[in-house]
Amino acid sequence: MSGTAAETPSAIQICRIMRPDDANIAGNIHGGTILKMIEEAGAIISTRHCNSQNGERCVAALARVERTDFLSPMCIGEVAHVSAEITYTSKHSVEVQVHVMSENILTGSKKLTNKATLWYVPLSLKNVDKVLEVPPVVYSRQEQEQEGRRRYEAQKLERMETKWRNGDIIQPVLNPEPNTVSYSQSSLIHLVGPSDCTLHGFVHGGVTMKLMDEVAGIVAARHCKTNVVTASVDAINFHDKIRKGYVITVSGRITFTSNKSMEIEVLVDADPVVDNLLKRYRAASAFFTYVSLGPEGKPLPVPQLVPETEDEKKRFEEGKGRYLQMKAKRQGQAEPQP
Ligand code: COA
Repeated sequence: MSGTAAETPSAIQICRIMRPDDANIAGNIHGGTILKMIEEAGAIISTRHCNSQNGERCVAALARVERTDFLSPMCIGEVAHVSAEITYTSKHSVEVQVHVMSENILTGSKKLTNKATLWYVPLSLKNVDKVLEVPPVVYSRQEQEQEGRRRYEAQKLERMETKWRNGDIIQPVLNPEPNTVSYSQSSLIHLVGPSDCTLHGFVHGGVTMKLMDEVAGIVAARHCKTNVVTASVDAINFHDKIRKGYVITVSGRITFTSNKSMEIEVLVDADPVVDNLLKRYRAASAFFTYVSLGPEGKPLPVPQLVPETEDEKKRFEEGKGRYLQMKAKRQGQAEPQP
């Protein structure tokens, strides 16, 4: 690929009306549905950008999603406006920032639902294990490039520091007591079919995130037995491709409860069942935070988790650390600047 700046449009907008199969039984749109729309917008804009010069054709694969918060619930009948913009390019990766607004088309009111940052990596169509170079994006201001580079360096550092929980598995337990980890832990097994995959036969990141959110939602509902919604998702790295025909097991367990929130760890394992030479591997993992909503849409207190084993107690303390850190960050952001 040549090193000249790409001149394709670096922003897109998609909108779609929310239907009952996008929502939970209380009519709140699933966090997973929103994550899937975000990823679709990101995949379109990054694949288009990476093919904007006369080089080898490629598909942009989702490599990472930064922590994202769900700022306000979206309901059936509202229109989701998803806008995506390329905000930074490194030699082999593209940063895409996505905004989701919900519009009530009866009243015209609009609310910001979600802001997300995703990183894509272009893979050659001839050989999906070959990473290609990204055409550099044109910045309208020099500071944009510097700010982008800072975000790029920060995520690279975080990736190096993140402990990859590979061996950990979630085992079923007989007759668990309510409010324990075992009581609500849940798994979903899914055969990866053509509709889950890119044209090149590996799973869309959005499909995986939707399944992860589905399992987290089941765990949260089993724990508190009320209507639940996704409040946030911690950063997710996608280390390995999941191919068509593989069987994926998505497992979730509750790790921590605050007064009104639940943290759920979700593990995704891929099993190349039709290939005896390949072993089952951990494809992704993430922490989801769920909140239980009462009839007026106000957060309810949740039953407190009873960790039993030493591992569960350790995970509870780690979850509490993440919770306190995020709370302090949110409060810091809410305080007026001097
Ligand atoms: N987050 C952000 N960027 C990442 C990343 C991650 N988790 N992993 C790799 N990258 C970036 C690197 O920074 C590098 O860019 P740079 O050279 O400009 O810094 C680029 O990817 C290539 O890195 P490299 O080390 O050469 O490649 P890799 O062997 O780590 O492969 C992927 C990277 C993304 C191709 C590989 O991890 C993969 O196939 N992941 C799964 C993708 C997928 O299937 N997504 C859908 C999931 S369901």
